[in-house]
Amino acid sequence: MTPDEMKRLAAEAALEHVQGGIIGVGTGSTVNHFIDLLAGVKHRIDGAVSSSEASSARLRAHGIEVFELNDVGDLDLYVDGADESNRQLHLIKGGGGALTREKIVAAASRRFVCIADESKLVEVLGAFPLPVEVIPMARSYVARQMVALGGTPRWRESFVTDNGNHILDVHGLEILRPTELEQQINNIAGVVTVGIFALRPADLLILGTPEGTRVVEP
Ligand code: 5RP
Repeated sequence: MTPDEMKRLAAEAALEHVQGGIIGVGTGSTVNHFIDLLAGVKHRIDGAVSSSEASSARLRAHGIEVFELNDVGDLDLYVDGADESNRQLHLIKGGGGALTREKIVAAASRRFVCIADESKLVEVLGAFPLPVEVIPMARSYVARQMVALGGTPRWRESFVTDNGNHILDVHGLEILRPTELEQQINNIAGVVTVGIFALRPADLLILGTPEGTRVVEP
């Protein structure tokens, strides 16, 4: 079974958590499967709040109404993918560059269901380069702070986030204490969002595997 087929299995299983109302929808290839499947049950929901322009366009193409988070208040459910998850469901996110809006929608949601293929579950976060969204003028400054933390930052050139910012991908970090590192990087001037989701982890991880889906709870 291919990773993409495993992603689709996880997305299918997440549909069971859709009870109605307005659904928080993340970004990425796994979520694209979820959006396509959500279209089949769109009569059951009022619409979606999206974490990126790309997901908004895909939702609208399926005839699913996209709401502004400011207009709808807190959400019951947020469904999103991840680049890595540990067993506590602390995540690395932002491979697609949508980490800031993803973190906002996750924070505003009562339940965060993460969907991924089984390769995303790891013992220790950090093999996947950690995305950090920065204000453009702070890019070099933040990069030096990442070096001081033991990482090797690389500027994701030719990429601008939906918020008009830049991304540093920080290689070589072994993230043993995700909540502490999340707070530490959050406190650096010029950082908009760090791609560690540990202060607000996922509540449930659905993994697609060749044998079917597997659910991990912290
Ligand atoms: C985008 C993300 C995605 O959830 C993450 O990159 C996983 O993507 P995919 O589902 O394509 O593997 O954080 O910013």
